[in-house]
Amino acid sequence: MQKAEIGLIGLGVMGSNLALNIAEKGNRIAVFNRTPARTQEFVAEAGALAGNIIGCATVEEFVEAIRPPRPIIIMIKAGDAVDQQMDLLKPYLSANDIMIDAGNANFRDTIRRFDALKDSGLTFIGMGVSGGEEGARHGPSIMVGGTEESWKRVEPVLTSISAKFNDDPCVAWLGNDGAGHFVKTIHNGIEYADMQMIAEIYGILRDGLGMSASAIGDVFGQWNTGRLNSYLIEISEKVLKATDPVTGKPMVDVILDSAGQKGTGKWSVIEAQNMGVAATAIEAAVAGRVLSSQRQERLAAEKIFGLPPKVERKNHDGMAFLADLESALLAAKIAAYAQGFAVMAAASKDFGWSLPMPTIARIWRAGCIIRSQFLDEITSAFTKEPDVANLIVTPAFSKMVKDTDGALRRVVSYAALNGLPVPALSSALSYFDSYRRGRGTANLIQAQRDFFGAHGFERLDGVDRPHGPWGSGAA
Ligand code: 6PG
Repeated sequence: MQKAEIGLIGLGVMGSNLALNIAEKGNRIAVFNRTPARTQEFVAEAGALAGNIIGCATVEEFVEAIRPPRPIIIMIKAGDAVDQQMDLLKPYLSANDIMIDAGNANFRDTIRRFDALKDSGLTFIGMGVSGGEEGARHGPSIMVGGTEESWKRVEPVLTSISAKFNDDPCVAWLGNDGAGHFVKTIHNGIEYADMQMIAEIYGILRDGLGMSASAIGDVFGQWNTGRLNSYLIEISEKVLKATDPVTGKPMVDVILDSAGQKGTGKWSVIEAQNMGVAATAIEAAVAGRVLSSQRQERLAAEKIFGLPPKVERKNHDGMAFLADLESALLAAKIAAYAQGFAVMAAASKDFGWSLPMPTIARIWRAGCIIRSQFLDEITSAFTKEPDVANLIVTPAFSKMVKDTDGALRRVVSYAALNGLPVPALSSALSYFDSYRRGRGTANLIQAQRDFFGAHGFERLDGVDRPHGPWGSGAA
């Protein structure tokens, strides 16, 4: 029998969809699932694609069905299960075979798994896959980390199944060991910020302007034809216009205002902090989810404090305010993306990856959850200046910031006066204001540290006198 080009273990929703996508693009694939009945069911339901699928009942049969060196995608729940699956697989593999973890793994686990295989002759790819179930089935964005040789082995199959932006495949090899999973983690951090900011604007429209869900959906629909054109705005419109079949109310009005999280957003923030990069909008988004989940505490606090009295907008008509909200969202989005890319630039140095910034932006233009027109503009900016210190100082983005930061200021002020929480939007504004002010206020912090801890300071005039004349009570 003709061997398969690739294998896949784990026929859950993501794994099944990825396998069907692989088969549909003309690649032969071997599949295996812990419960053989699921494998049989999967092949039976694959219809015409079954001709490209080899369903295997045992690991031995599965490994034997794949052309060496064997690339094997493991698409199961992230965590210990991946290590267990690898341990089960290893005895059957031979030199240069490649185990590929396609889940949302912590990149530190990916580095550990990659290193553990170093002397075994086997190798490992950490592969970030974005786009949800639909993306897996019809074209995800794929972020690959591992050896260049292993990438070469999987490149044709991955290129065939990836999303395309103007025929350009949204897949790339981004560097060694954990590079792919790290970039996927930051993708998710940015995804958290993007979603939080859209939700904050929704809050202003709902609670500040008193608009209905479907009217807000119309606003998002309008914005999706302009500078904010993106998948997340597109689905927000759809979600806001959906009706609950049980009550007939707007769907969003019957959904609990508490959002869960699986960890990738938190990991972005932890790594940003580890590397000393300010990723304030992403931090605010993760904290926003945490506070959202504390619903009982929020309800109790509202009983104590009530809500602040409404403060109307002055000299700011409805249409102009909507235009401000659109610009504010764009300005804040720029900050979040600038922060995400700054975290990746720092990680690239710390982990020796040489992460290609223009390529990352390029493969996020289609297939992934944060796909947008905006990412094409980021691609152009990084292509012109791949090593720029911060996206916001590139000519294209500095112009965009100058055009929109006034709107962000007005929107954040309005929200603050009305007690409408906008943690991500306001952190984005503070980020600009901190980043662009040549003279900050940490001179006072330096002096305080020296006062209580004799930590010393640097003087502006370069004079070598690192302690202050603080007098009594000082360290
Ligand atoms: C993607 C998504 C996907 C998943 C997130 C959700 O890129 O396709 O990011 O990976 O939906 O993990 O994460 P939370 O459950 O933490 O929101």
